[in-house]
Amino acid sequence: MAGPASSTALRFDHVTVRFDEVTALDDVSLEIFEGESCVILGAAASGKTVLLKTALGLIRPDAGRVYVFGREITRLPEDELQRIRARIGMVFQEGGLFDSLTVEENVAYPLRYQPGARYAPEEVRRRVEEALRFVELEHTLEKFPSELSGGMRRRVGIARAVVTEPDLLLYDSPTAGLDPITAYTIMALILKERDTRRATTVVVTQRYQDGVWLSDFRYNPSNGRLELAAGDGEVGGAATRFVVFREGRLAFQGSRAELEGCADPYVAKFARR
Ligand SMILES: Nc1ncnc2c1ncn2[C@@H]1O[C@H](COP(=O)(O)OP(=O)(O)O)[C@@H](O)[C@H]1O
Ligand SMILES: [Mg+2]
Repeated sequence: MAGPASSTALRFDHVTVRFDEVTALDDVSLEIFEGESCVILGAAASGKTVLLKTALGLIRPDAGRVYVFGREITRLPEDELQRIRARIGMVFQEGGLFDSLTVEENVAYPLRYQPGARYAPEEVRRRVEEALRFVELEHTLEKFPSELSGGMRRRVGIARAVVTEPDLLLYDSPTAGLDPITAYTIMALILKERDTRRATTVVVTQRYQDGVWLSDFRYNPSNGRLELAAGDGEVGGAATRFVVFREGRLAFQGSRAELEGCADPYVAKFARR
């Protein structure tokens, strides 16, 4: 059987993205293997969101190549891109919900409108309920996003991302602006999805603690809590890779131990608890 190292979920090969004067990504090379977790750290405006959008093909690079599940997407036409996007779940910053749609309609959206999606109405209903049960919000089907707290909106965003059972999940700052207890709830859901489905998981965060949860903990299905995993940074045989962005450049990539031992003072700042 092929090991996890044999296939990459995401690969950036010398990728540069420019907007007028800003170089949002500057010659970025990065590989994330299937089943791995990746923690992306970096100051505001360092290129984290642009990286995720480039992985989805929403932004096309000015130079370099992007591969998703081994397939080069850099110049793929939109219809083919959409088929690859269907295998990726994205949780946008702040949840990115449609305000005019109910929770149920938001979560059903990828099942109803994703190109190539062919789900019978009762299958849509079943999956939506399952996804909302996953985030413990099955009682909010008829509510609108404005009626929910910030933490609940993030959870609906997670339900919408996992409803298609994607192989790769991208979370953009899922705990930003949340209190520590709500942030823990969100991280527990991210680990629950990762550890029950073995989905490749990429998390952008400004909180080092989120990276510690990902690298050292696993989800315990019997009590719904996170517990320390055996081994060093290896959860279920797959490692957690830490990446630090600085002004569009990769300032660091490696394990948690390597990050904590990094001599570069800029990088070391991100390893502080
Ligand atoms: N659509 C856009 N048009 C112009 N500039 C952009 C656009 N998207 C991002 N940028 C710029 O690219 C840089 C990186 O942005 P971003 O990836 O959103 O940062 P962050 O690390 O905070 O997520 C920033 O300077 C931002 O202003
Ligand atoms: Mg951002």
